[in-house]
Amino acid sequence: MTLGIVILAAGKGTRMQSDIPKALHKLAGKFLLDHVVDLAESLNPSKIVIVHGHESATLKRNIVRQGVLWAEQEHQLGTGHAVKQALQNLKEVDRVLILYCDVPLLKTKTLKKLISDKKNNLCIATATMRNPEGYGRIIRNSDGKISKIIEQNDLSLHQQKIKEINTGIMLVPSGQLAECLEKINNNNIAGEYYLTDIVDIAVLANQNVSTFHIEDADEIMGINTKSQLARAERIWQFREAHKLMNCGMTIMDPNRFDLRGTIKHGANCIIDINVIIEGEVFIGNNVSIGANTVLKNVKLGNDVKILENCVLEETIVGSDCAIGPFSRLRPGANLSEGAHIGNFVEIKESKIGKKTKVNHLTYLGNATIGEEVNIGAGTITCNFDGASKHSTTIGNNVFIGSNTALVAPLIVGDGATIGAGSTIGKDAPKEKLTLSRPDQITVENWDRPSKEREENKNK
Ligand code: UD1
Ligand code: MG
Repeated sequence: MTLGIVILAAGKGTRMQSDIPKALHKLAGKFLLDHVVDLAESLNPSKIVIVHGHESATLKRNIVRQGVLWAEQEHQLGTGHAVKQALQNLKEVDRVLILYCDVPLLKTKTLKKLISDKKNNLCIATATMRNPEGYGRIIRNSDGKISKIIEQNDLSLHQQKIKEINTGIMLVPSGQLAECLEKINNNNIAGEYYLTDIVDIAVLANQNVSTFHIEDADEIMGINTKSQLARAERIWQFREAHKLMNCGMTIMDPNRFDLRGTIKHGANCIIDINVIIEGEVFIGNNVSIGANTVLKNVKLGNDVKILENCVLEETIVGSDCAIGPFSRLRPGANLSEGAHIGNFVEIKESKIGKKTKVNHLTYLGNATIGEEVNIGAGTITCNFDGASKHSTTIGNNVFIGSNTALVAPLIVGDGATIGAGSTIGKDAPKEKLTLSRPDQITVENWDRPSKEREENKNK
């Protein structure tokens, strides 16, 4: 049986109180709609159709996916009306699975179980919620069979106590779907064409309707508000943290861990609290990452120690390096084995040689630094002249004294020493001391101004 999947994403998401369409809110750094498209793709359907409407252009610009079809719902008249807009794309499929862009925590294995049932009738995925507020409720006959779904707004006081809810997910033969959708109306408090009404319609036409119970209520959580988005984020992160811990990662507190991408790691690694991992991150063996650190698209070798409060982006760090606290490694920073980067150091687009130390208050940009170099506190590469970036090359075993300005383009030869406080604008030869510093003078017979003397003068 061929499967088509419809993802509803046309709604504005009024309850989010935001200018951003709901589908483009992010969970774990990824758009809600991308989560659901990934989920749909994991089932290998023959078609995926996204129903879009509110802020269509913004949605299409941000959701760049090969092979998905888009169906427009010009006016958002309800979920039933939305599915109707996708029907023309689903003529050749046998069954249609309906997913909502605001239900992103579902697992592939749950949906695989749902579609593995080969019965050819309407099947509604339900769940039991401790607090069912806001969800459509499942109404059952005296014989226990589902008879209809009633939306929150239309519930009687008695029905509000029902804990079994509509997850929004349903599997339905395409012919039956088209037939039932023809019959829905908007006679309800919201004045919308509810998809959920097809249950009632199918039951009245004596068609068999079944339910599929999803045990883990977290999976089917619908995101309608910012609070629900934050809750869903924590559920997602807790899951990811546990996956990592099951593979041997030590995470000091899974409640204060954020993965917004992927991480591949070796053995004996430790992640302290409030670490954010973004994009693709690879870390070797015996790596420790200090508290409040952000790693975005970075590779860390074995035995790397990152102390607290560091930000690393598009950076490669060789084995045995020590970084932080308070270091910032910007795109293009490339550290060789055993380099040390200390507090308040910023490095951009620069290669740092083996065992080189840049320990305090330094900016290195567009620089190539050799091996076993010592960069003194307060060293700055002046790499930008207002129009272009220029490079600085520093050889091996160089010693740069504190508070040095290296005015690029510039080459400092192997073994050179630069005197503290220098402004170096010309190449410095190898193995020599180079410095630029006005002669020191001492002024004899000079008195420091004092309040007392000033007062005496004025008397
Ligand atoms: C819906 C269900 C409810 C269920 C809940 C599960 C209906 C009528 N209600 O309610 O029974 O318990 O989901 O989370 O289906 N959308 C469109 N076009 C529209 C309206 C909505 O594409 O005209 C999309 C939205 O973008 C969203 C999805 O449909 O992705 C669901 O809409 P939403 O307004 O969130 O419905 P709920 O009130 O959550
Ligand atoms: Mg919803």
